Amino acid sequence: MSKNTIRSIKGTHDILPDQSWRWQQLENHVHDFMHRYGYREIRTPVFERTELFARGVGTDTDIVSKEMYTFRDMSNNSITLKPELTAPVIRSYLQHNLGRLTPLTKLYYIDHAFRQERPQAGRYRQFHQYGVEALGSPHPEIDAEIIAIAYFSLLELGLENLTIKLNSIGSRECRIAFRAALQHFLKPHLGDLSETSKSRFNTNPLRILDTKIPHEIEIVQGAPAMSDYLTAEDVQHYNQVKSHLNDLNIPFEEDNKLVRGLDYYTRTTFEIISPALGAQNSVCGGGRYDGLIETLGGKPTPGIGFAAGIERILMAAAVSQSEEPTVLVYLIVIDDDGRSTAFKLLHDLRDKGINADMDYLHRSMKSQLREANRLGAELVLIIGSEELKDGTVQFKNLKTGSQKAIPLDSVLAEISEKPD
Ligand code: HAM
Repeated sequence: MSKNTIRSIKGTHDILPDQSWRWQQLENHVHDFMHRYGYREIRTPVFERTELFARGVGTDTDIVSKEMYTFRDMSNNSITLKPELTAPVIRSYLQHNLGRLTPLTKLYYIDHAFRQERPQAGRYRQFHQYGVEALGSPHPEIDAEIIAIAYFSLLELGLENLTIKLNSIGSRECRIAFRAALQHFLKPHLGDLSETSKSRFNTNPLRILDTKIPHEIEIVQGAPAMSDYLTAEDVQHYNQVKSHLNDLNIPFEEDNKLVRGLDYYTRTTFEIISPALGAQNSVCGGGRYDGLIETLGGKPTPGIGFAAGIERILMAAAVSQSEEPTVLVYLIVIDDDGRSTAFKLLHDLRDKGINADMDYLHRSMKSQLREANRLGAELVLIIGSEELKDGTVQFKNLKTGSQKAIPLDSVLAEISEKPD
């Protein structure tokens, strides 16, 4: 590659043809899966007003305070490339008053997200998520449905040995009391905390529970537990979620230190971890956000959802479950006289829904045959002036090696019958 060649930006990736098939498979699967559960697709713009994320996700979160791609447009508006999808989906739900159509709105998406994080395996600056948002029900069955969708969709995509981590962080009110108790507990340890945790002490002390630093893990071991601050209704809700998960045989581990990095969560929070990944082992995260719709200007409406990282799923999934569709028929042109007949026949085959291709480089017959094999073609049609005089083409099955002359006008019928 010459030094004049322009390269992609750090943390972004091209999805090349040998990988895009796996993406298409995953996307098709997600569409089918979501329809089974009664969710309909929503697509929102790539960029939004910065204020949407500041208000929705929270100014004290890492995402908003240091990871967003924010810029001014020509009208001096502050614009942000979406770092997550929940806030845009709620914005759209409110703007188009989707709640008037049905009291429970079930939406899903497959989309990009952008975060200016330090790139490493499984952590990128442009990445992709599929996810769902169910807006309108406060009841625990929908919490269990959301976790079931996350879990079973990942299993069907070929992930194995998944662990669901589950927690309830209660209503906003009990979180305020818990935050005060946590600060009280951490204060004497402040000197021992890392710079990141020190700065989180005031802005977002719950995130310190999530620390990966060994001596901090020891410190927070003795911290007060969120579960002691839940109200009786929160506890009842959480118990019902767990009971519905048990009914569906969905295994989960309770983790009362599971604090998600976004501010909008209330009550149920969960993550799904895959052992096939390294440090970035969370394939999916989600939870309930009963205050978010109100924060973004709507009537108080409960909501819950999750998002799963597609790059991480493809890293963790066993090899692709079915093979990429190949060219079924390859047309080989022996001499110039056959070219226009072949070109027309190629169109007729494709028009009938048959995967077909031919050589556009005027190569030798040997090279064309090599290309047919490289593409994985099953059938080859050999078209030359000699055959055309009799109105025939050579019909060769590359799998069995059999070859015969057939009339040009019976090619379509012959292929549809899948002859040997
Ligand atoms: P999140 O935990 O920030 O949640 O992201 C969800 C998933 O996206 C992660 O578990 C991970 O698989 C993937 N992911 C996140 N950041 C990156 C990155 N930099 N590179 C690659 N993959 C990444 C949310 O985004 C919430 N909006 C989920 C939600 C929906 N909660 C309720 N509804």
